[in-house]
Amino acid sequence: MAGTPDPAGVRTKEVPPHASMLIESMRDIGYSLETALADIIDNSITAKARSIRLLADTTSAQPSLAIVDDGEGMSEDELLAAMRPGSRNPLDTRDKEDLGRFGLGLKTASFSQCRKLTVASRKDGVTSCARWDLDKVAQTNQWLVELLDEPSSIPWIDELGISGTLVVWEKLDRLVEGEASDARSAFVSRIDDASEHLELVFHRFLAGERGIKKIALELNGRALEPFDPFHSTHPATQAGPVEKIKSGGQEVEVQAFTLPHHKKDPEGWERYAGKAGYLKNQGFYVYRGKRLIIHGTWFGLARQKELTKLARVRIDMPNGMDAEWKIDVKKASAQPPYHVRERLRRIIETIGATSRRVYTARGRRLASDRRLPVWQRRQHGNEISYCLNPDHPAFVEFKNQLPDDLKAGFERVLEIAASSMPVDALFADISASPSHVSGAQLAEDTLKHLVETTFSALISSGVNSDDALEMMRVTDPFRENWETASVWLQKKVDDYGDE
Ligand SMILES: Nc1ncnc2c1ncn2[C@@H]1O[C@H](COP(=O)(O)OP(=O)(O)O)[C@@H](O)[C@H]1O
Ligand SMILES: [Mg+2]
Repeated sequence: MAGTPDPAGVRTKEVPPHASMLIESMRDIGYSLETALADIIDNSITAKARSIRLLADTTSAQPSLAIVDDGEGMSEDELLAAMRPGSRNPLDTRDKEDLGRFGLGLKTASFSQCRKLTVASRKDGVTSCARWDLDKVAQTNQWLVELLDEPSSIPWIDELGISGTLVVWEKLDRLVEGEASDARSAFVSRIDDASEHLELVFHRFLAGERGIKKIALELNGRALEPFDPFHSTHPATQAGPVEKIKSGGQEVEVQAFTLPHHKKDPEGWERYAGKAGYLKNQGFYVYRGKRLIIHGTWFGLARQKELTKLARVRIDMPNGMDAEWKIDVKKASAQPPYHVRERLRRIIETIGATSRRVYTARGRRLASDRRLPVWQRRQHGNEISYCLNPDHPAFVEFKNQLPDDLKAGFERVLEIAASSMPVDALFADISASPSHVSGAQLAEDTLKHLVETTFSALISSGVNSDDALEMMRVTDPFRENWETASVWLQKKVDDYGDE
């Protein structure tokens, strides 16, 4: 084809992309199974579906995966438009509830996982079916979508209801590598992992939060349950105020949560840690149109520190801010615009202070009588140290029984023990599995002795017996062994009352 000369001596020539090559590169923009499924589900939610079902055939010779919804469906023209790569202009304004972005998701998400994408859609009683088969595109090097007039051969076609859309992925070359049975079981476990991720990504839709329509999501008949990463209904979760940040004429809402310390919620501890654990899952959780797009990052504004590992900050943004936030095609990465970053930085600082309180709260309460804790926490500037409390009644009582020349030696023993506390090892163990770390077991008669000496010391310093009991109840090691300790203590209280 000859070029067309123009007046300024510039010629134009059409250079369309090679279908066979471009369509192959569209496969590799970095989707995972999770992000691909989420992108398909976004389309169903945008089409006002109430029920979205994932159907996986993991056993047949040709494994396949489908997503079927009961949304508005598409006419044949709409379906053809949907199959076109780049079906919508990313610069157009979209409906508030529209989770789409580039007009690419259906195609890129599907091709990232399979070589054969079939979409069947029913609207106003008419069923339309279209298919991209990458092997055919490769052969013909043409953008020829197939229209199927006889849909009965499409897997799961009977699952379509009065209206809705069925997306079928076949030739799952990337999900099931080979015929071997371990490839099949890997496929099953990847789908399971992905469904867990979807419970997080769509948790607000699954829970039917106020202001959005509830959806039901199923995997092979099993209902997915919402997973709220903020554990927001637990009484020990601390929720900060909702802050509003204006940005480009729109508003972003930010709310910080500090999850319960494991002592406050031993049952939920593992579950809310998530697969990656608390340390990696701390950070911002960005929602676009109530759908989680990115989580577990401080956007380079802070490091993921042990201290702030219980902090998760919800950011809610509308879909009109995509360009400002640099939302990518996969809707899996984003960057806050400059002035939002500055506000977020301040929010992180406040969180640091709150987290510090969560960890030291128990320590502070113990300090109600400075003699009571066996261990003391000392802070000098940034330096924090722990030492054994020489004023503890049990230590004082023992020291008083020692001849004078051994008293100094005893104090030295306490000092050596505390100064050689294996801080690094403790830190590592606690980070890995806090529920499995505890102090050494106290022998019963030691505990009994400690109950008696502590109680006597408190009474003789003028504390009344009710207060003494309450002070000891909240202090370790009594608190941790309260069932046993309380029996002896009650006996001491009774004896004391009789005197
Ligand atoms: N499940 C569905 N139900 C109804 N329409 C759909 C569905 N999936 C896709 N579409 C239509 O196809 C279009 C293209 O989808 P997609 O490639 O994901 O791009 P985007 O979501 O960014 O618009 C959508 O805008 C929508 O009109
Ligand atoms: Mg989409």
